[in-house]
Amino acid sequence: MKNRRNILKVGILGLFSVVITACTKAMTDASSPTATDAATNTPSDSVTGSSTKGAAIAQLSSLKVGEGFNFTANDGTGAILFKTKDEKVYALSRICTHQGCAVDFDLAQNKLICPCHGAIYETVSGNVISGPTIKNLKKINVKIDGDNIMEVI
Ligand code: FES
Repeated sequence: MKNRRNILKVGILGLFSVVITACTKAMTDASSPTATDAATNTPSDSVTGSSTKGAAIAQLSSLKVGEGFNFTANDGTGAILFKTKDEKVYALSRICTHQGCAVDFDLAQNKLICPCHGAIYETVSGNVISGPTIKNLKKINVKIDGDNIMEVI
């Protein structure tokens, strides 16, 4: 009789172990990326200017000197990219440091101007020229990688 109980206990434990293993495998498979996921997870189109980790913001050859190129920074906020005559690039946040409106690049004045309350910033440095804010625009680190311009995270 005692031997039968032991056999029954071992059988129940074995069955329980099989069920736990099957459940764990099912949960792991559901949360793991599959080959199909990888195939459909394409980087953002650099032509539109969106930027995700590892994706190009734009191509250096397609940027014009002195013109701003709006893009979405990796943190999801608006930003603007510039190319200099000597093929260098720099980027600034477009979030006005006064109350958060999106600043616009004014090509004629070569300045970044906030449409909400008129703050004006320098394009190269992002420094405030006139308020109401006293805080400069945030710089966004970018680098040139071949013809691609990438945000440095
Ligand atoms: Fe830009 Fe007020 S939000 S000046």
